[in-house]
Amino acid sequence: MLISLKPVGILGVGSFLPEKEITNFDLEKMVDTTNEWIIERTGIKARRVADENTATSDLATEAALKALKDANVTAEEIDLIIVATITPDMAFPSTACMVQKNLKAIKAASFDLEAACSGFLYGVAIGKQFIATGTYQKVLVIGAETMSRIVDWSDRNTSILFGDGAGAVVLGETEEGKGILSTYIGSDGEGGKFLALPAGGSRMPSTVETIRDGLNYVKMDGSEVFKFAVRIMGRAAEESLKLSGHQINEIDYLVPHQANIRIIEAAAKRLKMPLDKVYVNLDKYGNMSAASVPVALDEALREGKIKKDDLIVMVGFGAGLTWGSCVVKWNK
Ligand code: UT7
Repeated sequence: MLISLKPVGILGVGSFLPEKEITNFDLEKMVDTTNEWIIERTGIKARRVADENTATSDLATEAALKALKDANVTAEEIDLIIVATITPDMAFPSTACMVQKNLKAIKAASFDLEAACSGFLYGVAIGKQFIATGTYQKVLVIGAETMSRIVDWSDRNTSILFGDGAGAVVLGETEEGKGILSTYIGSDGEGGKFLALPAGGSRMPSTVETIRDGLNYVKMDGSEVFKFAVRIMGRAAEESLKLSGHQINEIDYLVPHQANIRIIEAAAKRLKMPLDKVYVNLDKYGNMSAASVPVALDEALREGKIKKDDLIVMVGFGAGLTWGSCVVKWNK
């Protein structure tokens, strides 16, 4: 049987950030670092941190409510909720099921997706399929993280980088020739060792010893991840462009994962994009893992950087190692 695929667009976008901010100056009091070092090496000036009563599903729910409102879609219309996160409220039930309950999205199926910082782009790639095939009409894709809970605040290699937040989109059918033109996702498990949270899973269940040894926190070989990121960001963007049938010089705006300004600059250079066509908010929020791309998308839209019919590329990389990108002809 031949299925004719439907064009899929982003119908609404929303984001939510906890209020509490930790600046580089605050970090100077916690670890052996300086504001200058962090800005020069990463571009980050501050990051948000959820209070102790707020978990990932709470941030995700707030972002989802805003995306639903922006899309003019009710929670009851949602067929599927995908939450991309590496900081779920708990191992199970899924954070997506908690969001489904909070939203009262009574007909939605729900699951979590784990592709670290690429998670949101993986979610878009997956969610799009259900609508393209006519299986579902409305899909909510959320990237949400409370990285502050898995960062060792006494480790200067990682504590300076990460922040908490959530971003969400509602996917649905759009006009022919518009919306998500292509998606591209990939992985290389060989590089998994460069960025991991070793304990707390079936390989190394949490014990007094794992906690004592700091194995329940993020461990990262920063320079290996950096080299990979510089290689993959440009390549991933090029792959999705190729799939969309467009050329680099047609891109109006780039929304990259917000890990390090030097990584973003390298990607922009490879794509020959001037920096005023590249969204950057890592100075305010640091790296929010799966939430980075949708929060950046939301802010770029609110600031009027993206207009109807613009061709935009979203691209990211993360632990796994994973990467993802998509090309969108903005349909709103
Ligand atoms: O979404 C994926 C998440 N991860 C990433 O994106 C990480 C990608 N990697 C990076 O962004 C960079 O590698 C870092 C920002 C983590 C580090 O920057 P770098 O330019 O690669 O520095 P480095 O690791 O080569 O370290 C240079 C020096 C070292 O000292 P020695 O060994 O040269 O004496 C570090 O110990 O800087 C030291 N250092 C610091 N100094 C002050 C490392 N962290 C800090 C710090 N403050 N916070």
